[in-house]
Amino acid sequence: MRIEFYKHNISQQDIDNVVGVLNSFFLTTGEVVSEFEDRFSRYLGCKRTVGVTSCTAALHLALLAYGIGPGDEVITTPMTFVSTANAVLFTGAKPVFVDVEPETGNINADLIEDAATSRTKAILPVHLYGQTCDMRKIREIADKHHLAVIEDAAHAIEASRDGARPGQLSDAACFSFYATKNITSGEGGAISTNSEEIAEKLKKLRLHGMSKGAAERYSKRYEHWDMEMLGWKYNMSNIQAALLLNQLENIEKRWQRREQICRMYEEAFKKDSGVTCLKVLPNSKSARHLFTIQVAPDKRDEVIRQLEERGIGVAVNFRAVHLLTFYRQTFGYKRGMYPMAEKIGDSTITLPLYPKLTDEEVRYVIQTVKEVIAEYAQTWAE
Ligand SMILES: Cc1ncc(COP(=O)(O)O)c(C=O)c1O
Repeated sequence: MRIEFYKHNISQQDIDNVVGVLNSFFLTTGEVVSEFEDRFSRYLGCKRTVGVTSCTAALHLALLAYGIGPGDEVITTPMTFVSTANAVLFTGAKPVFVDVEPETGNINADLIEDAATSRTKAILPVHLYGQTCDMRKIREIADKHHLAVIEDAAHAIEASRDGARPGQLSDAACFSFYATKNITSGEGGAISTNSEEIAEKLKKLRLHGMSKGAAERYSKRYEHWDMEMLGWKYNMSNIQAALLLNQLENIEKRWQRREQICRMYEEAFKKDSGVTCLKVLPNSKSARHLFTIQVAPDKRDEVIRQLEERGIGVAVNFRAVHLLTFYRQTFGYKRGMYPMAEKIGDSTITLPLYPKLTDEEVRYVIQTVKEVIAEYAQTWAE
C-alpha cells in the first residue's frame, strides 16, 4: 500500500470557481478577494480580514502594522516552522524564544514574563498542529507589559479554546493557505483583526504602501494613487480567493473527518504502542492540522526510513528552530537552552492526516507504526 503524506481535496466546484475568475476581466486583487475576506471574518467572528500571499507575509505585515522594527524583541516559540521567527527578523527585530509545554508543544505561558525585557514589543504564539495556546494568560501578560499579541494561526483556522477563536483575544491572527493546509490556494495567507485601523494599514502594506489597489484604480475611471508608506508586494489575487471560497464553506465537514482520523490514531496509540502523542486539552477544539507521534530520539530517523519503505509518507514538524544552523550561528543558540522544544523536535514524526484518507489507510498506518516500533523495541530496551 502507498499512502501519501498529503493529498489535497480540490473539488469540481473549486475548479469551476477558479475558471470563473480566469474567464473574467480581473485576475488580481478585486471583488473575489473582498468576498473571501468578508466570509473569512464572518467564519472567525472577527471584524476584518486582509488576504495576502502567504502566512509568512501575513506575520511580516502584522508585525509591521503594530510598529515592530529594529531594536525590538518579539517573544515566540522555537517549536514552529522557521517562518515564524524569520518574519520577526524581516522587520529588523529579534525573536526571543521561550520553551514549550510538554503536553501540547505550545509556548509555555508561565515562562513568558521571565523572557520579557524593556525591548519586548510583542508576543507571537504559535498554535501548534492546530491547538490554541493559552491565549487568556498571554493576553493578560501582554496587557500588563503593553505588548501586542500576534497569533501564528497557520495551523488553527477551526480552533477554539474556552470559546475563543483565533483573532478574538489577540491584536491580529495570521493564517496560511499553503498547499497542505486545512484550506488551500497552493500559496496564500490572511491576517484577521478586530481593528479597522490596522486592517486599513495592512491593505496598504500588502501593496507597496499604495493608497489604492488595482481594482480601485481601474474599475471605473483612472484615478491617481499615492504611496503613503513603504509596503511590500503581498496582495492575494482573485484566482487564489476563488479557490478558497467553497473550501471555506465546507471547512467544518473536512475538520470532522480529520477529527475522526485523529481519534483513531489516539485510540490506537493510547497504551503499549511504544509511541506517545501530545494531548488535546479538554477545553480546546484543535483544528487538527497535523498529527504527530513521538518515538525514542535516537531511533526517530530510522523509524521514518522504515515507514517510508513500507509506503507511508511522513514528515517532521518541526526540528526546533533555535538549533538550525542560521539561528545557532547568528544568535549563539545551543542545545540545552529549550529542552522541551528539543525533546519534541528530536522525537517527533508526523503521520498522514487529510479528509481523503480512508479508514483502511489509517488502519494500515497504525499497524505499520506498531510493527516498526515493535521491531525496534528490543534495541531500545538495551
Ligand atoms: C506554524 C507555521 N507558521 C507559518 C507558516 C508559514 O506559512 P506560509 O507557507 O503560508 O508562509 C507555516 C507553514 O507551514 C507554519 O507551519
